[in-house]
Amino acid sequence: MAKVIIEPLGSHHDRAAFDCGQPRVTNFIRLTAKKQVAESLAVVRVAVAEGTPKVLGYHSLSAHSLLVDDLPAELMPKSRPYPGLGAFYLGFLGVDLSMQGKGIGCLLLRDAMGQTMRAGEYGGIAFLVLDAIDEAAVPFYLQFGFTALPSQPLRLVLPASVIRQAVAQAGNP
Ligand SMILES: CC(C)(COP(=O)(O)OP(=O)(O)OC[C@H]1O[C@@H](n2cnc3c(N)ncnc32)[C@H](O)[C@@H]1OP(=O)(O)O)[C@@H](O)C(=O)NCCC(=O)NCCS
Repeated sequence: MAKVIIEPLGSHHDRAAFDCGQPRVTNFIRLTAKKQVAESLAVVRVAVAEGTPKVLGYHSLSAHSLLVDDLPAELMPKSRPYPGLGAFYLGFLGVDLSMQGKGIGCLLLRDAMGQTMRAGEYGGIAFLVLDAIDEAAVPFYLQFGFTALPSQPLRLVLPASVIRQAVAQAGNP
């Protein structure tokens, strides 16, 4: 199979057959993603085999703001941010059932980290944030260094310092 690459969602991409086993995540790329991109609500990037249109996986990112008081003490910034804590929100991440377990989810998450780090060069981005779809999805994120918020166990945050380290280790900013 050709090399898997990640690129911005375009009109040539084939999303109709995508199914990751989670209806909300499947329906977003099939039905909603293009509209959200057109309205500047999200940036969606897709994994494809280079030179082919079939969507093998995708992620969706939006700008976000975190409440400082939600953070556990160890992640609290030393100075008080104004007006809030800048963050990027990973709205969706999914890999087609036929391609799960081949490293594409990891590739997509690392791509989302890279996007978050680059955005942080233009404005303060302290965290990558997401709401896991269910408890079964949480361990996937914990292995990358995400921390669950004590008040909302499905809400996971990844500090910019961890993102920078991961991107530097991957050698692919
Ligand atoms: C979760 C998901 C994105 C993972 O994608 P994937 O391509 O299968 O994952 P990868 O092959 O990149 O796996 C990377 C690592 O994560 C591990 N992993 C995958 N899914 C996991 C899970 N649910 N829990 C714990 N670890 C998991 C793999 O074993 C692998 O570990 P290894 O490197 O030690 O072998 C995919 O299973 C999916 O789309 N699920 C349905 C939609 C969903 O739940 N999305 C998340 C919404 S919050």
